[in-house]
Amino acid sequence: MLAYFSRAGENYYYGDRTNLEIGNTEVLAGMIRALIPCQVHRIEAAEPYPDSYDATVARNVREQDEDARPAISNPLPSIQQYDTVILASGIWNVRAPMIMTTFTESYEFAGKTVYPVTTHAMSGLGNTARDYGQSCPGATIGEGLAVKGEEVRDACAAVESWLQRSGLLPAR
Ligand SMILES: Cc1cc2nc3c(=O)[nH]c(=O)nc-3n(C[C@H](O)[C@H](O)[C@H](O)COP(=O)(O)O)c2cc1C
Repeated sequence: MLAYFSRAGENYYYGDRTNLEIGNTEVLAGMIRALIPCQVHRIEAAEPYPDSYDATVARNVREQDEDARPAISNPLPSIQQYDTVILASGIWNVRAPMIMTTFTESYEFAGKTVYPVTTHAMSGLGNTARDYGQSCPGATIGEGLAVKGEEVRDACAAVESWLQRSGLLPAR
């Protein structure tokens, strides 16, 4: 299954700002879903993040400093039936948004394989592999995929080869 968090609105764009109608990670999640049949869950914040980039940065700094667990408005009852979980999000201050930790701590991941996926400006996967390793005890952390947010629509070949390397998509 693929669980992702993505925030539309004002965002970073090549050192400038742009207004995203669809968040970068949501675009990437759609590309993954087009290549492999999987259940997709969009993680929604109970208190939605602001449209403003600066206000979102400020809230995220606060949440990271407090080691917060922002509430999810649409939690899944269980992820027990899935052996493989792709966790996708943007990178906020070099890690996944804290709401991803809310998600991972809500379920039992032991025995599962977790694949970190990010969209980012420059930080790549950031600390996602380490953090998911900690918050998903007993899970195997597979090879991650990091895509620059500005280039997400050109990422099809990268997505496909990552899925093949991970064994999630049979080689053609
Ligand atoms: C609050 C905030 C913090 C960010 N921090 C980083 C960062 O530390 N490193 C980085 O490469 N990109 C950073 N970015 C850029 C996002 O990771 C990038 O735009 C990503 O594609 C957003 O994904 P989304 O549109 O799916 O939410 C940040 C963006 C926001 C809004």
